[in-house]
Amino acid sequence: MTRSDSTSSDDIGVVKHDFSACYNQDWPHSYLKAHLALDYIIPDRAKPVFHATLDRYRAVRRKDHLKIIDVGCSYGINAALLRTDMTLDDLYAAYAAIDGPLAGRRSAQHRAFFASREIGADIRIVGVDPSERAARYARAVGLVDAIVTTDLEASDLTDPEKRALAGADILISTGCVGYATERTFKRIYEATANSHPWVATFVMHPYSYDGIARMLATYNLQTRETLVARQRRFSSDAEQQGLLDAMLDRGIDSRLERTTGYIYASFHLSTLSNELLSGMLLP
Ligand SMILES: C[S@@+](CC[C@H](N)C(=O)[O-])C[C@H]1O[C@@H](n2cnc3c(N)ncnc32)[C@H](O)[C@@H]1O
Repeated sequence: MTRSDSTSSDDIGVVKHDFSACYNQDWPHSYLKAHLALDYIIPDRAKPVFHATLDRYRAVRRKDHLKIIDVGCSYGINAALLRTDMTLDDLYAAYAAIDGPLAGRRSAQHRAFFASREIGADIRIVGVDPSERAARYARAVGLVDAIVTTDLEASDLTDPEKRALAGADILISTGCVGYATERTFKRIYEATANSHPWVATFVMHPYSYDGIARMLATYNLQTRETLVARQRRFSSDAEQQGLLDAMLDRGIDSRLERTTGYIYASFHLSTLSNELLSGMLLP
């Protein structure tokens, strides 16, 4: 067993804050309330990185209209940020303020809200998440164009799901690796391999990306870890200690976590090896 494999995702799950009660509801309000309480910020930090990745992909592949797969799409938070010029704080306020435009529970109103803010980013987004109600919300309000709700840790894609994923350009993900492992990413990649999509993933410390990177290497993708970004605050002293111990155990530098009281995530970008351009800068 290598050092980085010595603590399993299950071990981390025992100490990590449990958000699962809000993952699969008809409406996103309790998800956003629970995440705002811990200053969950990673989708906001990911937004410019994803935009830079999309821009780079367009330049390298000479393509304008892109098909994105958001692994662990939940209620469509990444989609909302990528399709509009909103920040995560704007979204939190829209849902949480008493008179916020998304405080109510009328699909048509939510759909109109996002449609009026669409900035025409020339993207189509497929959301993957076994939390079916959350994914259905994202589709109902137009944040994602299609959804895949099979739990790909446990079961294979259905044929319609394979068709929904085919031809993808880029897989993105925030806050999901750990729940989703190389089992899920392999099933998705296999269904999209003909178009050789890039994979752009934020992975919360101390989860490991090694298994996914190794799997992607079998499709000739090379993975680089290019930056770290804030994910959220620790929920308690016990969580902080448990995750810092797990980081130590895995040989992950925890200076940022100890200094700030925030958990960080590492950004991994996988591209075909001849597309790993030197000087490629990401924010
Ligand atoms: C912390 S949330 C992140 C959601 C969203 N990406 C964000 O950053 O706001 C984790 C998400 O992973 C999803 N998830 C859990 N198991 C999964 C799996 N096997 N495959 C894909 N997503 C999964 C949960 O349903 C939940 O929506």
